[in-house]
Amino acid sequence: MTALKFELGADGIALLSIAVTGRPMNVLTPELLAELAQAVERIAGDAAIKGAILTSGKPGAFVAGADLKDLVTAFDRGIDAVEASKASTEISALFRRLETSGKPYAAAINGLALGGGLELCLACHYRVLADDAKTVIGLPEVQVGLLPGAGGTQRLPRLIGIPNALPLLLQGKQVKPAEALKLGIVHALAPAAEVVAKAREWLLATPSAEQPWDKKNYRIPGGAGPMAAHASQTFIAGNALTSANTNGNYPAPPAILSCVYEGTQLPFDTGLRIESKYFGKLLAGAVARNLIRTLFVNKGAAEKLASRPQGVAKSKVAKLGVLGAGMMGAGVAHVSAQAGIEVVLLDASLEQAEKGKAGIAALQGKDLAKGRTTQEKIDTLLARIRPTADYADLAGCDLIVEAVFEKRELKAEVTAKAEAVIPATATFGSNTSTLPITGLAQASKRPAQFIGIHFFSPVEKMPLVELIVGKETSQETIAKALDYVAQIRKTPIIVRDFPGFFTSRVFGTFTQEGLRMLLDGIAPALIENAAKLAGFPVGPLAVSDEVTLSLQQSIFKQQDADGLDDKYRGRIGRPVIDKMVDELKRPGRRFGAGFYDYPEGGGKQLWPGLAQAFPVKAEQPEVEVLKQRFLSIMALETARCFEEGVVVNPIDADLGSILGIGYPAWTGGTLSYIDTLGAKDFVAQCQQLAQDWGERFAPSPWLLARAAGGERFYALAQAA
Ligand code: NAI
Repeated sequence: MTALKFELGADGIALLSIAVTGRPMNVLTPELLAELAQAVERIAGDAAIKGAILTSGKPGAFVAGADLKDLVTAFDRGIDAVEASKASTEISALFRRLETSGKPYAAAINGLALGGGLELCLACHYRVLADDAKTVIGLPEVQVGLLPGAGGTQRLPRLIGIPNALPLLLQGKQVKPAEALKLGIVHALAPAAEVVAKAREWLLATPSAEQPWDKKNYRIPGGAGPMAAHASQTFIAGNALTSANTNGNYPAPPAILSCVYEGTQLPFDTGLRIESKYFGKLLAGAVARNLIRTLFVNKGAAEKLASRPQGVAKSKVAKLGVLGAGMMGAGVAHVSAQAGIEVVLLDASLEQAEKGKAGIAALQGKDLAKGRTTQEKIDTLLARIRPTADYADLAGCDLIVEAVFEKRELKAEVTAKAEAVIPATATFGSNTSTLPITGLAQASKRPAQFIGIHFFSPVEKMPLVELIVGKETSQETIAKALDYVAQIRKTPIIVRDFPGFFTSRVFGTFTQEGLRMLLDGIAPALIENAAKLAGFPVGPLAVSDEVTLSLQQSIFKQQDADGLDDKYRGRIGRPVIDKMVDELKRPGRRFGAGFYDYPEGGGKQLWPGLAQAFPVKAEQPEVEVLKQRFLSIMALETARCFEEGVVVNPIDADLGSILGIGYPAWTGGTLSYIDTLGAKDFVAQCQQLAQDWGERFAPSPWLLARAAGGERFYALAQAA
């Protein structure tokens, strides 16, 4: 056996230790399942075997569920709902055979048990869980657009009651040992090293080979029967919870509710069949595929730097220089010091630099108050950050991240000063948000070592870093920048130098589309709600207020001066900005007045005067159309970036759009959105939008050609 070790003790107890080879953690592989099936039959057929213990032969984790990479392979093969249901039915049948084979099974859970791992434990008659700080158990399938398809939606509610089971199933909430015991998910806790002994004790003293739900007169806990009044209340609450969180974009929560609702009113085995049917539909659907591929597998791949230039030795930053200790510079210093890097934090005066460091200390203080760190760790972290105003302190830095004011001349000045001190091999990164990298590199004596390293605010929270490759940036520099991003545990994307790079350019089309809707006579509340219903975290009017309307206006003016080609500007909302700033004197949140009012006591409301400033038409479009406008305009701009070579790898576009600018996760990203609809349907949708709302929606000839050829951005992506 390669995944399951079978040892029979003199006391008649079989010890089954799971140790899946070739994977860092135990996952449910076909080999493991096949070997488990053999073991179950051997145990059932051998009168000398009294019972069995299931445990992990790999410390730290029991079983972490399915390997998401295996699922992506299945997607790429084009798995359909029938095949997916069948896979779920087969695992369910195995677990059902285990629990009804007449022999008692005890799960000695010596580490985390998630998804299918926990479902296997739930099929055992007794569960003892390692009582340590790292262990959690749960059914996180919903987070990847799936449901627990190996009995989880049937056993958990029957074990702990529907109200207690729903948060675990619908939100994927993971619980620690004490809570698992309190909820009744496990029977006992023990130190990790003793769970096997405890399981053996149970098997020898008080074994039972019958599950509660297979006993006569079984009733679901917490109610007189499946249809008890409070149970239906729970479903109403569950429904509300589901739709409030997902706005109908995510099919998994309603499917889970259906499994629990239908399944708990029917015999157990029928419940399992219902679960497999819903599981198949979800696995074959687009949302699970998009979520898993972009946010789990490709995000992981990006972290492992799949697109890193070949043949460049791996590098590590030991000493980092940050120029500018403002909001962004301090954030960069913070996350870098957290990754163990020595940081020189330079500003125009020592006082300013120290202010930046004090901000970091304050954030750490908040974490301390919440019990997330210790004073000792804070002291170590802060000791790594040296505030200064003296360029000589930058000597020996491997990397510079420049984050001074967004002014070309100033950036040129600090670049020259830093380069006079740092080693000839050092990399220079600019965190500019709007200035083309190739232009900034002109101030450098080593433009090949110059690159854009664009962080997002707040740096501590935002996972994305956009690397911008200038005309002269070398492959080695790209590799070094990628290594640095990996070192600070963020997700990099690589884009070509272009005004607005990738993320700002695509994001601009979202906010501008929202402003344009005001000019179309659409009610402001409808605009904001449509964006939220589509899955954007914030509406375009609120986000424009945050960014500050006067700042957007000055960017437009800068672009005018640079003589940019109009088609890239996404400036269709400019009349709104000009009117808000110049005429109505409402330049944004920072000034207490923008599209919203910001009363002193906190909170915000849409400014009632908007309806007069931008008259609302009597007839309003369907919310669906507005959602399409937001989703499509950003997808179109991304396709244009792809066409122009600003992004080369669809993964970069998808990750950048979700992690950087809040494109809804259910789509899988801007290019996956097109792939999911199918390029043909996408261009048809855009042509309709162009007819109704303006030429900006007209697909380019290049995109039309791709659509006609039935091509996909992900060659392997399958139609939903
Ligand atoms: P900020 O105004 O908070 O910080 C700029 C810092 O640069 C200040 O502490 C200032 O004292 C310092 N500085 C000015 N002149 C200097 C000099 N001669 N030498 C050394 N330090 C000097 O600005 P913020 O928001 O941190 O932005 C910095 C850069 O990051 C800008 O290029 C901006 O476009 C870019 N960026 C900003 C984002 C944001 O959301 N705020 C997002 C991504 C990039």
